[in-house]
This record gives sequence, structure tokens and C-alpha cells, in this order.
Amino acid sequence: MQIAIDGPAAAGKTSLGRALASRFGCLFVETGKMYRAVALGAERGLPLAEIDLTIDKNGHLFLNGEDVTDLLHTPRLDEASSKVATRREVRERLVDLQRRIAAGQDVVMEGRDIGTVVLPRADVKIFLQASARERALRRARERNAPDVSLTLEELIARDERDRTRDVAPLNPACDATIIDTDRKSLDEVISEAQDLVKERLRER
Ligand code: DC
Repeated sequence: MQIAIDGPAAAGKTSLGRALASRFGCLFVETGKMYRAVALGAERGLPLAEIDLTIDKNGHLFLNGEDVTDLLHTPRLDEASSKVATRREVRERLVDLQRRIAAGQDVVMEGRDIGTVVLPRADVKIFLQASARERALRRARERNAPDVSLTLEELIARDERDRTRDVAPLNPACDATIIDTDRKSLDEVISEAQDLVKERLRER
């Protein structure tokens, strides 16, 4: 089974993805981490051809053999990963890796282009959305960032780049179910998504 979750930054994709993966016994893959790791590699002076990425079953990400999972979620890499993600050659490499990971095993994969590009035949496609203000509040809370307005500004800039890039811009797939998480608790969102997956499993 393949479950694709897409949506803008801080829409709740990771919390939902982790819950669905655990409930339905799937591998959980956060593709944003791969773009972050490529950006980290570039910062370290590594050309794309010399970047080797692997993930383990716990979602740890290895850059040329080094576990960099804990280095990836910084404001600097928020920005750098969103820039690196506009490069066609980077996307081709990562889409290929993501498809190889998804082949032959049950996955919940989250990102920006999973339902549209990476797994267009996914069994379930979910697109999460929430207002920029709500997402900035969540992100600031998560990171203990004192200045919500700065977080909001950064988030809007990143959304804009993700939505307007030439290659695989952020868009819901035409067959995705859109869930607006603004006035919903995480439990409500999880329950709605679980119902979608169960319905799909019954149809199979
Ligand atoms: O989900 P995230 O915030 O960790 O993603 C970091 C950046 O990577 C994000 O700004 C856009 C890019 N990204 C992408 O273009 N396609 C994906 N499938 C996942 C992430």
C-alpha cells in the first residue's frame, strides 16, 4: 500500500504520516529530509554527484554514511533546502531514490510532490492545508522560536518558492483528498485520514 501526504510547510504532515505508518504497519518516509540533506551536503562543498543518501527503517538519514538526522531541521536549512529543491537535477535524483524506496514495500511518504510526481498511483492521496498564520504558530512552538512574525515571513517566502518553481510545484493531485487542519485537533485529522485508508483497503 502507498499513502501519499503532501502540503505546505508545518501543515502537520509529519505527525499525521507517523501516526498512519504506525497504525497500518508501513515505512514512514519524510522526503523533505532528503532535500535538507542535499542542501547540507552542498554547504559542505559536496557536488550532487558525490552525495549519497540512505535512510534506515527508523527514518534516520545518512549523508555519505554519516547520520545527519539531527542536523537537518534548522532555519538555515529550511531556506537552503527550499532553494535546492528548485533544481531539476536534484529532484530527478531524489524522485528516483524515493520511488526505489517505495517499490515493493508499504509506505507512507510525505512531501510536496508525492501524489503528483513520485507516486502518482498511490492508493491514498492526502493534501493537508492550514492557514499560514496557524502553521507559523505551530512551527514557532515546535522550535521555541520567540518571534512568530519572523517565522511567518520565512514560511510565506518558502511557500511561494515551493508553489511557483518550474519543476514539480506544490499542488494537490487532482485525485487527492484535501484536509484543512486549521480548526481540527491532530486526533481529528488522524481519524479522518484513517477512515480514508480503511475505505480504500475495503475497496481493494
Ligand atoms: O518538508 P520539509 O520542510 O522538510 O522540506 C524542506 C524543503 O524541501 C521544502 O521547502 C520543499 C522541499 N521539498 C520538495 O520540494 N519536495 C518534497 N517532496 C519534499 C520537500
